[in-house]
Parts: sequence; structure tokens; C-alpha cells
Amino acid sequence: MIKFNNLSTDAPYVVFKELYNESMKASQKNIEAICIASYSSDNKEVNARFVNLKFINDNKFIFFSNYESPKSQDFYSHNQITALIYWSSINIQIKMKAHIMKTSKEFNQVYFAKRDEKKNALAISSVQSKTIESYEAIQKNYELSLKKSNLTECPEYWGGYSFTPYYFEFWEGHDLRLNKRDVYEMKSNEWKHGILQP
Ligand SMILES: Cc1cc2nc3c(=O)[nH]c(=O)nc-3n(C[C@H](O)[C@H](O)[C@H](O)COP(=O)(O)O)c2cc1C
Repeated sequence: MIKFNNLSTDAPYVVFKELYNESMKASQKNIEAICIASYSSDNKEVNARFVNLKFINDNKFIFFSNYESPKSQDFYSHNQITALIYWSSINIQIKMKAHIMKTSKEFNQVYFAKRDEKKNALAISSVQSKTIESYEAIQKNYELSLKKSNLTECPEYWGGYSFTPYYFEFWEGHDLRLNKRDVYEMKSNEWKHGILQP
């Protein structure tokens, strides 16, 4: 589940929440899953991966990850991302474009301290996306990490990312490909609404 705190009352956020509620009612699995596409201006390469969207605070979408992972390297080199959600239960795709930034150390620490320590042990022990000799080695590192005394202390290399979209596209699948596409784009500090052809 995504937690909403003081959600923005701007039009695209209202639409987002309505669709989220519908999707919850339709028992959408992995409702928090969001694909984040990034670009590395160093490698000149596009990349993408799913993460779990944990919070929408006001107008900020927040997920958590390793700050030294390939995605983080991409964000350092090029801070613009595209994010995609697909809720199959209601046949809705939501596309967002935004600039991404880290959440504060204080925010990360508060969140980490509340998390399951078993999950924290993994976040601490994993050098995300680096190769390792075997799966057994991962399990061993994890077991060693579980014995640490400071499992509520957020490491420097782990924390949140926050993005505030300047573009939303809500795609609604219909029969005969008569799909409905509503766009909200932030221009001169105002949301401009438009409709795209299928
Ligand atoms: C449904 C789903 C949710 C995921 N959630 C997260 C997450 O919240 N944070 C994260 O770092 N990785 C998450 N992952 C793993 C990422 O997709 C990815 O493998 C990992 O972050 C490494 O990505 P990178 O090498 O591009 O940095 C999730 C994977 C799936 C399939």
C-alpha cells in the first residue's frame, strides 16, 4: 500500500488518488510497484527498474533504495526521470516525468528506525547490483548483518528518493483501442490539461 500524507489537492493528484482507490477496491496486486526509467549522461544509456512507492507526501512521490546503486549513479548524472505505473485490475497506466532528489538524512533515519529490522539487515549488507561469487555468499553476509546491534541506524548509503512530477498522463484502456489519455502538464506554475489521441 502507498501511504498518502496531506496529499496535494491539485487536479492530477485528485485523479491519481481516485484511480488508486478504484484499484485497491479491485484488489490490485503490487499496487506500490512503479517503474523508474533513468538516463546516464556518463554512459549514454537508458535504464529502468521497478521500485515500491511508499509515500505520497503533499506533491512528493517517495521510494527507498541504495544510494550507491546504478540507479543512483544515473540520478547523479541526470536527475530527470520518467515513472510508470500499470494497474492491471482497472487497466490504467500512469506516466509521470519529474526531477528526482534524495530525501533528508533525518527523514531516512526516522523511516529506517520504524522498519522491520530483518529488512534493515539486508539493506545494510547488500552492495546493491554489485556481482558476488554465489547466492550462498549473499545469505552469509545477511546472517552476519542480522547479528549487528545497530539495525535501526540508517547507513549513509541507503535512503529515500523524492520526485514531484511536472507531467502526468493517465491512460485508460478501452475496447477497440479507443483509449482515453488525459495529460496534465505544469506550465507557468499552473496545471494545463489536455487530451491525447490514442
Ligand atoms: C515489484 C518490485 C519492487 C521493488 N522495489 C524496490 C525498492 O523499493 N527499492 C529498491 O532499491 N529496489 C527495488 N526492487 C529491485 C529493483 O527493481 C532493482 O533490481 C534494484 O533496485 C537494483 O536496481 P539498479 O541496479 O538499477 O540500481 C524492486 C523490484 C520489484 C520487481
